Amino acid sequence: MRLRDVRKVKVQGKRVLVRVDYNVETSAAGRPRDVTRLQATIPTITWLLKHGAVVILVSHRGRPAGRAAKFSLRPLLPTLRRLIGRPVQFISEPVYSHAVTAAVEALRPGQVALLENIRFEAGEEDDSPRLAKRLASFADLMVNDAFADSHRAHASIVGVAREIPAYAGLLLQREHDELSTLLKRPARPYVAILGGAKISTKLHLISQLLKRADMVLLGGALANTILQAEGTAIGTSFSEPSLLKQAAGLSVTNAKLKIPCDVITATKRVRQAPHQVRPVGRIGRREMILDIGPDTLDLYGRVIAKARTVVWNGPMGVYEVTPFDRGTTALARLIGRHRCRSIAGGGETLDAIHRARADRQFTFLSTGGGAMLEFLEGKHLPGLSAVAYH
Ligand code: ADP
Ligand code: 3PG
Ligand code: MG
Repeated sequence: MRLRDVRKVKVQGKRVLVRVDYNVETSAAGRPRDVTRLQATIPTITWLLKHGAVVILVSHRGRPAGRAAKFSLRPLLPTLRRLIGRPVQFISEPVYSHAVTAAVEALRPGQVALLENIRFEAGEEDDSPRLAKRLASFADLMVNDAFADSHRAHASIVGVAREIPAYAGLLLQREHDELSTLLKRPARPYVAILGGAKISTKLHLISQLLKRADMVLLGGALANTILQAEGTAIGTSFSEPSLLKQAAGLSVTNAKLKIPCDVITATKRVRQAPHQVRPVGRIGRREMILDIGPDTLDLYGRVIAKARTVVWNGPMGVYEVTPFDRGTTALARLIGRHRCRSIAGGGETLDAIHRARADRQFTFLSTGGGAMLEFLEGKHLPGLSAVAYH
């Protein structure tokens, strides 16, 4: 698939609707916890401004049911202004109001505005033609730079692209290029590491990765479900029992698939809780698995040391709570140090990599969570097709 590059178009004096993904958490003080997703869109915005366009940013945040202050994009404005280095006008009214038409029409080349959370509008998630037409009426062309939301066939992603010419932004292109390499021609050995807690969204990916990668290493709560499906007692560990049947279908005798051979357990999931190393198969009834153990880490380290490509999604343990961050932190540093093509994605995975201060050592950090997983499964992403040559 070849994407239509926005840099091939004349944007001077044009109004450009840019779909970005600013779906980020804010701290108690109301500031974004992590600015990676905002920062990642700056190259496209800067390019458009430099070439004399009017930039109208559109994003969603969270999964609101109607208008809700806690999902507003307003708290992101100070950070966005700082990153862009220009004023950013916030348009908070519902998109059908005259105030929005007037505000958009008043924008001049070189100016930037951010619309309020697009999921506040009925019709965004079911791709209503009415909403798509309304958004399209604000602009001459649209740019999709929201890779992280490109697995959603929503009005602001695919609907607008049916109404006005649509192009791929710089971030979207980079994500597509980096991840396509993993699908088409990864340098081998190619090692995939999967962990985390969203088991239902990741089980199918394991079987897909077993076809493409040379080795698949599992950790986190995802591995708990596989261990349980295999008949191993996992005490009170977090798992998704509804997925046991599906998990049992994954052949653990497959030589490419590695599951933890030892784990760290505790009876409480709290900071500095008393904990122990347990070989898998020796987990007490009241214990829960909170991290991978030292032998597993050693084994995974040896596999990674031979890899020429590593892709990673999902922490190996409850990395938010010390000392159960050890496995994840060690893995992040190990991959970071090893000279290979290293790609990681997923909200918590990136957070863990940042905490381990290994972020700059990775080849590429994807802004996509679900979108990256679906892409790696080989699924078609509607947001990419909408800006591709056919
Ligand atoms: P990502 O956002 O990187 O895709 P997920 O959302 O799937 O990752 O999972 C991240 C969460 O998984 C973290 O909050 C972490 O605490 C949790 N997790 C990892 N290992 C375990 C475990 N053994 N038990 C419970 N939760 C775990
Ligand atoms: C993400 O955070 O993965 C994207 O913003 C998509 O959000 P969604 O899962 O609510 O559609
Ligand atoms: Mg997550």
